[in-house]
Amino acid sequence: MASGTSRDVLGRGLRVLGRAIREQPRIFTVAVTGSVLFGLLVIASAYVVGGVVGEVVVPAVERGEVGGGVLALAAAALFGISVLRVVGIFGRRLGAGYMQYRLQAAYRRRVTRRYLDLPLAWHHRNSTGTLLSNANSDVEAAWYPIAPLPFAVGTLVMLVGAVASLFVTDWALALVGLAVFPALFALNVVYSRRMAPRQARAQRLRAEVSGIAHESFDGALVVKTMGREAQETARFAARAGDLRDALISVGRLRGVFDPMLETLPSLGTLAVLVVGAIRLRQGAITVTELVSVAFLFTVLAFPVRAIGWVLAELPRSVAGWDRVRRVLDTTGEMPYGEVAFDPATRTPATLGFDDVHFGYEPAEAHLPGAEVLGAVTFTVPAGKTVALVGPTGAGKSTIASLAVRLVDPDSGRVTLDGVDVRELTAASLAATVALVAQVPFVFDDTVRANITLDRDGIGDDEVWAALRLAEADGFVAALPDGLDTMVGERGTSLSGGQRQRLTLARALAGRPRLLVLDDATSAVDPRVEAAILAGLRTPGDGGAPASILVVAYRRATIALADEVIYVEQGRVVARGTHTELLATVPGYVDLVTAYEQAEQEREQKHTYEEVAPVPSGLEMEMEVDR
Ligand SMILES: Nc1ncnc2c1ncn2[C@@H]1O[C@H](COP(=O)(O)OP(=O)(O)OP(=O)(O)O)[C@@H](O)[C@H]1O
Ligand SMILES: [Mg+2]
Repeated sequence: MASGTSRDVLGRGLRVLGRAIREQPRIFTVAVTGSVLFGLLVIASAYVVGGVVGEVVVPAVERGEVGGGVLALAAAALFGISVLRVVGIFGRRLGAGYMQYRLQAAYRRRVTRRYLDLPLAWHHRNSTGTLLSNANSDVEAAWYPIAPLPFAVGTLVMLVGAVASLFVTDWALALVGLAVFPALFALNVVYSRRMAPRQARAQRLRAEVSGIAHESFDGALVVKTMGREAQETARFAARAGDLRDALISVGRLRGVFDPMLETLPSLGTLAVLVVGAIRLRQGAITVTELVSVAFLFTVLAFPVRAIGWVLAELPRSVAGWDRVRRVLDTTGEMPYGEVAFDPATRTPATLGFDDVHFGYEPAEAHLPGAEVLGAVTFTVPAGKTVALVGPTGAGKSTIASLAVRLVDPDSGRVTLDGVDVRELTAASLAATVALVAQVPFVFDDTVRANITLDRDGIGDDEVWAALRLAEADGFVAALPDGLDTMVGERGTSLSGGQRQRLTLARALAGRPRLLVLDDATSAVDPRVEAAILAGLRTPGDGGAPASILVVAYRRATIALADEVIYVEQGRVVARGTHTELLATVPGYVDLVTAYEQAEQEREQKHTYEEVAPVPSGLEMEMEVDR
């Protein structure tokens, strides 16, 4: 919940409402017009009912006969009012709905657009859960009071009209109104103030309950294999219990206030009847007027609730809006430059790292950020393959991120064909480099869509050519629907190795001039991995030659590289050919040999199968570390 007193919550809440009205002024006018029409007709209906009783019913009872003409007129008046009221309700509901859902859609779009603009560093600091709730429930909460807002505004107009009409009728009855309406209003305010924190708590617990559920189901594999079912169930049950208590407390409050809100207008009607009877005897008012006013009190009670609904939602709206605004106001997106390479250039690019220093931003601002890379300098010459080798945590993935400008160096330069990557346009950068990340990501879509990603100029021929280069054409051809096969959420219907080759084909389809492979073939049979790399170095049909920076572990893979860069703790310790490094760098020898042994042991246990995912280099190294 937002901090601050309830008064400034009210003030800030009204400002949020003001923003909504400024953004959708026309639709708001329609809704309020409908609502005001409805309110005035409610008052009119009370007077028509009073008129019917005073002019038709009472004389009819006294004379024992009903005047047909008057009756028809009364019926027509009541019918007309009902029709207009329907029009008013329709306008209000439609307008309010339109306004609320349009605002929600607009802000969902703005928030998600912002996510995509914000740099990776920002994403590292914010959990997926938070991002989802910003785009979803926070946006919804911010615009929640919009639904009853036109009703509430119409009701305010109606109350003013009601008091005015009371004064026109009789001052004594007006005094009853002046006592009852403000009391009704005050009761609504108290009610919503009490309700707000309870609702907020329930809302928070709802998010927690679904968060726990999401985590347990997402991690079902861990939960099951580690025998954590009982603990997970208990964790969930505790939160679900809290939510139940919170909702019961909401219900209890409703149970106390709802009858009061019902009763107050009834007491008002009673007071009107008592006062009215006296005034009637005094000859100050007529029967028509008395019935009208009494009826007015009974029909006003419900609309007054609308004001309470708006007030009750304001704190939640302010809290939601604060979180949404925090995203929208965040700056720090990567500015792109103006330099663009000629799109027709198909020659391999030269990648340069020039005294690059880099540290991830600390999780909390006051902590110092540790340096992850220090003075990293190397080149991947045009058309060459450079292997990046080093122990876990050495900074290989970080170097890969810098090379494709997912992050920018703290100092030093990363260049492509001599141009600082910060000076390139977004389009030029995307067309020049491609990263195949350590963890492959596959969309829940067809194989074709996963490879083309809607990019221009990638037809089925290009897709197949990329699949061939990635050694993935075989298994894709064997899929039931070929390129049209759906691969399931995160590619669950594929093996680890198949997923990796699909993401590799995706990168290749864009014909990058620099390809960065971050352990991108770890789940692939070593022979297939070597074949892929060999194919990339001398691409045949469809493929353009590219410079390659590859994070590698396997001797066979490394041996294919023109040069090996050995990194330890964020520094380039040695560089040279594989053979040179084997002869001169003890750490390098240990790493490559240890990895090879682990691989051989595995291979003795079972021969690789295409579909069986083999452990990634990361897991291998962890084993070596022990
Ligand atoms: N998002 C991040 N925020 C903070 N620190 C990070 C982040 N990503 C990586 N690091 C740290 O940076 C260092 C280098 O990580 P990096 O992922 O580059 O290593 P790596 O060489 O790719 O390791 P691996 O072989 O296990 O993939 C590690 O100490 C790691 O803890
Ligand atoms: Mg890594």
